[in-house]
Amino acid sequence: MKTATKPSVKRKLIVANWKMHFTTHKASLYLHKLSEKIATHKDVEVVLAPNMLSLQSLGMQVKHRQFKLAAQNCYWRDEGAFTGEVSATMLHGLVDYVIIGHSERRYVFSETEKDIRMKVQAVLRNKMSPVLCVGETAHQRADGETLHVLHDQVVSGLANVTGEEVARMVIAYEPVWAINSSNSKTHKAATPEDFAVAEKEIRKQVASLYGKSASEAIRVIYGGSVNADNARGFLSQEGCDGLLPGTASLNSEEFLKIVESAHDNKGRDKAGK
Ligand code: 13P
Repeated sequence: MKTATKPSVKRKLIVANWKMHFTTHKASLYLHKLSEKIATHKDVEVVLAPNMLSLQSLGMQVKHRQFKLAAQNCYWRDEGAFTGEVSATMLHGLVDYVIIGHSERRYVFSETEKDIRMKVQAVLRNKMSPVLCVGETAHQRADGETLHVLHDQVVSGLANVTGEEVARMVIAYEPVWAINSSNSKTHKAATPEDFAVAEKEIRKQVASLYGKSASEAIRVIYGGSVNADNARGFLSQEGCDGLLPGTASLNSEEFLKIVESAHDNKGRDKAGK
């Protein structure tokens, strides 16, 4: 078993995945608006994940005590003849987090488990934290495969990650069927109870690979149609370390309410969580 180092205190992590929205100009205006209105809380870490092109300029504009930045993807080689790609090495210094294995990367861009595993390792090698997304499709859920899918994606995503590195990681449970439900009649949001089942399975796998203290140290967050109305329900689950909103993060009022929900939840957790 690979031994993990436990980080001292866990803050709630709210990662805004802006996906392919906002030009650089709009992203800058939006950041300005957020920055004027957001209250900083010691117990909440707010991370913005804009498109790759906007990272550099937002990096210069952002007040680092208010926000951290994340990339939505990266390539796993550090450099070379890979037209169109951006490496984790290039992101080093610009972002603290990199989202890896988002379902849109897995299913729209056909990323394989091997790609995702290599990307996780590249992000860790370059001293940033991967936000590894896992979650089942509607078909897999209907076939009762949810826990198997989570098992396989977690075990594969963490292959070759050391015990020390795993404590830096974030795992986001993002059931594919619950993503973007507000824009589709066929989708619906997951419930806090759905999250709790997945979160336990994720920590169980981490515990079996790295031990109990690693399974408590790793941050497990929820994404998939998070909004100002349902955020609190997820955050009040014992093992919920934060949220990964997409659509709702594009609306400043709504996003700020989500951040406040994370702050309001501060007294709930047990000491050390
Ligand atoms: P929505 O919040 O739009 O469902 O997107 C979730 C997501 O994919 C975040 O990574």
